[in-house]
Formats: sequence, C-alpha cells, structure tokens
Amino acid sequence: MIEIKHLTKTYGDHNAVDDLTLNVEPGRIYGFLGPNGAGKTTTMNMITGYIGSTSGEIKINGHDIFEEAEEAKKCVGYLPEFPPLYVDMTVKEYLSFAAELKKVNKAERKSMIEDVMEMTHISDMQDRLIRNLSKGYKQRVGLAQAILGYPEVIILDEPTVGLDPKQIIEIRDLIRKLGEKHTVILSSHILSEVREVCDYIFIISKGKLVASDTTENLLNNIEGSMQLEVLMEEENSDALESVRNTEDVKSAYFAARTPNGEAVMTVEAVKGKDIRKDVFKALARTDANVFEIRSVTQSLEDIFLELTGSAEAPAGDYSEEIKAFDDKSAESATETKTEDEGGLE
Ligand SMILES: Nc1ncnc2c1ncn2[C@@H]1O[C@H](COP(=O)(O)OP(=O)(O)O)[C@@H](O)[C@H]1O
Ligand SMILES: [Mg+2]
Repeated sequence: MIEIKHLTKTYGDHNAVDDLTLNVEPGRIYGFLGPNGAGKTTTMNMITGYIGSTSGEIKINGHDIFEEAEEAKKCVGYLPEFPPLYVDMTVKEYLSFAAELKKVNKAERKSMIEDVMEMTHISDMQDRLIRNLSKGYKQRVGLAQAILGYPEVIILDEPTVGLDPKQIIEIRDLIRKLGEKHTVILSSHILSEVREVCDYIFIISKGKLVASDTTENLLNNIEGSMQLEVLMEEENSDALESVRNTEDVKSAYFAARTPNGEAVMTVEAVKGKDIRKDVFKALARTDANVFEIRSVTQSLEDIFLELTGSAEAPAGDYSEEIKAFDDKSAESATETKTEDEGGLE
C-alpha cells in the first residue's frame, strides 16, 4: 500500500531522514516511534507530499507521490502536527471548504461531512467558530478533515500532543475505531501510547529505521524479562535463598539500599515468565519483613539503548513522561507542560 525506498531528506549537511526503507500494508495501525528530532514529521510530510525528498521513492497504491501526486494524495488523509485550521470559520464551514479542496463529489459532500462530524463527535459544535473551541475539539476537527473523502490511509502526526488525559483517551479510542476501516499511521514519542494503539511499530532514531515489527514481537524482544524489586526492613538471607529457589527466578541479589535505609532485593525472571505470585509466596514462607514488591519497567530510553547501543533519548524528555503515564499521574504532567508548544502531553 505504501512503499518507501531509500528515502532521504537533507537539510544543509544534516540528514533529517536517512535512507529509510519500509512498507505499510493495508488494515493495520502503524506507529512511528522515536524521540523528538528523530525525523517522524519530516517523513510524514514527504509521504503526504507536503515537502519533497532529497532522494528516494514513495509510492502509494503504486502512485509515486511526486510524479503522480494527485492520484497518490487521494489515497491519504493527513493530520499535521499543527493543522492549518481556519479559526474564523465555523466547524461546518471549514469541513465544507476542506471537502471542496479534496474534490469530494458535491452530491456526497453534505452527508459525508455529517458522517465525519459524527465519527469525531463534533456534530454539536458544527456552528461554533473554530477559534472558540478547546484544543481537544480543534484536534477532532483536524481529524475530521483528515477523514473526509475516506482515504485508505490516514496519517496523524503526534495526534495527542497537548491534550489532557481525558482527551487523549478519547482520541486514542477514535484512532482505534478508524483502524477498523482504514490503514492508520501515527507518530509519537511515547512508547505507552504506541503500544496501546498500534499493531505495528517502526522505531526511528536520527532519521534511520532502527526496528520494525509487530507491537507484540517488538515488546517481547525488547522488554526482556520481568524484574522485581522487593523492599524489606533488613537484608535477609533466608528470603534471598527462598526466592533464589523459586521456579523461573533467574537471579536474585541485594542491591543498594533505599534512601530510607530499606534493603532492596532485585529479582530477575526467566524470559517470558511472570514470577510475581511465586516470589510473593516464597517471601511469605520466611520471616522477612517485606514492605513492598514492585515491577521495574523499562523506559523508552532503555529500549533505545538496547536497539542503538547509545542513549538517544534526551534525558528527562520522554522517559519522564512515560513514567508519568505509567504512574497514571499524567494530569499533573499536563498542567505543567501544555504551555510549551514543543512540549509533551
Ligand atoms: N525545515 C527544516 N530545516 C532544517 N532542519 C529541519 C527542518 N525540519 C526539520 N529539521 C531537522 O530535522 C530533524 C528531524 O525533525 P522532525 O522530522 O521534525 O523530527 P520529529 O518529528 O521526529 O521530532 C531535526 O533534527 C530537525 O531539527
Ligand atoms: Mg514531529
């Protein structure tokens, strides 16, 4: 459906996209995952014909995006990072205008606009001026515009950036719905988002494709084995012995103490095994005073380290955010970051 071969985009002497080759098949939700500056937007802008490439080839349903632009573009709907919304139009006026630009058949226009407004839950807002809509609603108007004409492929550049947690959930649900009828490609710098929504992941780093697989395979491969941390009052050798003798436990040892002086036992499982129940039971058989057992989750930073051999991810950038999400405390992260346009959710 989309074939990209040796795609390169150079700015000055910097390769924003560097020899990218990948294929997109119909009927899946794809994620472009990578840190800020990886080249996601540049790639999407080339696939949608917004900007030209320095070299390489993009074919959409067999049509070259540069040589047969009109046919190729017909197959694609695009929600750019900053959708060009006309804020002095009402939602309905804007969508009519977009339908006209997309050359949607006049007879179909009215019902199609009603359909996409319904799909994106903006029917109630149709007579409102876009300037008066919240960021979440504006994003849905952008999405409605991308869906107009029912293109086979819908491309969404960081569709949840700047939205609050409730809006993020709504947009993700919508994307899943879209995935039932369309091929969807979305970009994100948030692992948990891509993992939740996408069937297939392309990991992009410094303009290069560093991994490409189904979400399941990718996570299985990179996530490695389960790791637990057990916080207890004192280092306890019986507990260590008991855990070490537990089935599917690969290793267990006492690591550094916490700032509060609690002993920390780090336990690693055999790959693919869930050892939480057995470790709990093993500890309960001893006289150790256990305060807490917690899973240690890998951050996107760790995964990049594993894939590229270097920590690409700017520290404190999205690794923080993944934690915010995993802790389900995204709300506070949002409040502090929405002011910053380049920022995170
Ligand atoms: N118009 C431009 N001129 C110069 N450099 C650019 C331009 N657009 C993007 N870049 C550079 O290309 C790289 C990739 O950017 P981008 O595609 O926006 O990344 P992402 O969307 O993954 O954050 C970055 O290093 C960025 O600074
Ligand atoms: Mg971008």
